[in-house]
Amino acid sequence: MAVPIQHKSPAARAVQAWFNPLKRSAGFLAFVLMRITGIGLVVYLLIHMVVIGNLLRGPAGWDSLIQTMKSPWVLALDVVLIAGILIHMLNGLRVTIIGLGFGTQSHKGIFWTLMAVAVLLLAYSAWLVFTK
Ligand code: HEM
Repeated sequence: MAVPIQHKSPAARAVQAWFNPLKRSAGFLAFVLMRITGIGLVVYLLIHMVVIGNLLRGPAGWDSLIQTMKSPWVLALDVVLIAGILIHMLNGLRVTIIGLGFGTQSHKGIFWTLMAVAVLLLAYSAWLVFTK
């Protein structure tokens, strides 16, 4: 029996396109990544200060904290943090360079090249985090 062709309404197609990152320009992706990583880094900074506050609990409190930090799920969060740092730092340098008027014609190529660099550095960092 023939399978009926599903025709999506224009509204359904628009919603699908909105959530599909491949339908977005490199500039939009860069903007979203910059905002998510920027806010993520600020949140991390706040959490980091609270965690460092454990020093006030003395050596015993600190030792137990270090044990928690060595658990696989915290190490995985470290990798997420490094991903955010790499994306924000490299894209931030791109925004700064483009803002100064350099490479404006090839900003998309620069974006994808830097993101490829980020992926390579992240893979190396993840290997270091889980093996060293
Ligand atoms: C090497 C380090 C960094 C570089 C080169 C960098 C660069 C930049 C640039 C150029 C922007 C403006 C983006 C735009 O207008 O399109 C920006 C935005 C921002 N940065 Fe950074 N940044 C760095 C580190 C950080 C750190 C450590 C934090 C947080 C603790 C941070 C938080 C933010 C936030 C919240 C924004 C606003 C994001 C937005 O408006 O979408 N940045 N950064």
